[in-house]
Amino acid sequence: MAGTKTVRDVDLKEKRVFVRVDFNVPLDENGKVGDNTRIVAALPTLKYLLDEQAKVILASHLGRPKGQVDEKFSLRSVAEELAVQLGRPVQFARNCVGPKVEAAVAALQPGSVLLLENVRFHADEQSNDPGFAEKLGSLAEVYVNDAFGTAHRAHASTAGITRHVSTCVCGFLIERELAFLGRKTEHPARPFVVILGGAKVSDKIMVIDRLLEKADTILIGGAMAFTFDLARGKGIGDSLAEPDKVDLARSILGKAEAKGVRLLLPVDTVVTDSLDFASQTAGELRVVESEIEGGWKGVDIGPKSVENYRREVADAGTVLWNGPMGIFEIEACSKGTFAIADAVADNVGAVSIVGGGDSAKAIRKSGNAEKVTFISTGGGASLQFLEGRELPGVASLDTHSS
Ligand code: 3PG
Repeated sequence: MAGTKTVRDVDLKEKRVFVRVDFNVPLDENGKVGDNTRIVAALPTLKYLLDEQAKVILASHLGRPKGQVDEKFSLRSVAEELAVQLGRPVQFARNCVGPKVEAAVAALQPGSVLLLENVRFHADEQSNDPGFAEKLGSLAEVYVNDAFGTAHRAHASTAGITRHVSTCVCGFLIERELAFLGRKTEHPARPFVVILGGAKVSDKIMVIDRLLEKADTILIGGAMAFTFDLARGKGIGDSLAEPDKVDLARSILGKAEAKGVRLLLPVDTVVTDSLDFASQTAGELRVVESEIEGGWKGVDIGPKSVENYRREVADAGTVLWNGPMGIFEIEACSKGTFAIADAVADNVGAVSIVGGGDSAKAIRKSGNAEKVTFISTGGGASLQFLEGRELPGVASLDTHSS
């Protein structure tokens, strides 16, 4: 991965350049782009290609349309938003393969942009069908993958296509993601403090295992903490936990101790007697430091834990945050998560990396997005990369670049 070539390394002038982007963005109730973060994140690469006078062909998926045409997953409104962001027209093709697409590509002028319709309108995309990959590849002279959010998928437009285009490179977004999630955490400024949250130990087990090799301190929050509490013999009431992962949690605690990594758990918890996701409300709320009683469930880290974690983050040289501290979608249970967002942003001297998904959402909602060093655009992809596993969308570039 270290040697992955980028758009800087190849001749792009007047070339047909197929760029796989991740424009899998939320659409609002009117079918318009609800959050343009991923579109904005692709702009540096797209502007560079246009400045180099490339003929830019863009492809993406949106949602999970199950291999069929489904208008509610059309990329048409993404084309409109992209045109606004680029300040120039963006042509839109109603398919991603076929004679009309070939004609539109043949007519492309240097410095112009064509966005193809959702590649997942074809089942062959996700099955990585070689014939479909070849059709996509036949459109281009250069292939650029800049879809970090989808780089963990071995699909036709992210992996198979590289067999059919002689020049394959990554864009600036993937380059930056690999640098921050990779190099900056391999050789971190110390202390290296990792904050991990979310519901399940099982989702993060490989990440924890890997980070135990590199981090100085790991702060645990979210429902994941309750599985660790069970491992320590602490009562958790009706809190969400994974009883079948208790042994695993115990072995992580043992490993951390053996390696001299400080693994901190919440010392207090916000609990409630009821939760209503439909109305986004919680019932009575209390803070408990001891065991949680039956009938009550943990929904956030408590104020003492926030203070402990804030101190750790304030002293860090590198901070990596992945996963919320509680049910932050419900305002009454969101204080811990937003306090962590503030703490990460307040340490202006540190390299601060937010690892995608819910924590990226929380850092934006807290108004701190501009203050952190890097926010990953990948959810599953950033986790897989942090686990040290290969990303097919990147590995296939390395295998098939000329
Ligand atoms: C994402 O949003 O995580 C990526 O776009 C990948 O989408 P997928 O999980 O539907 O493959």
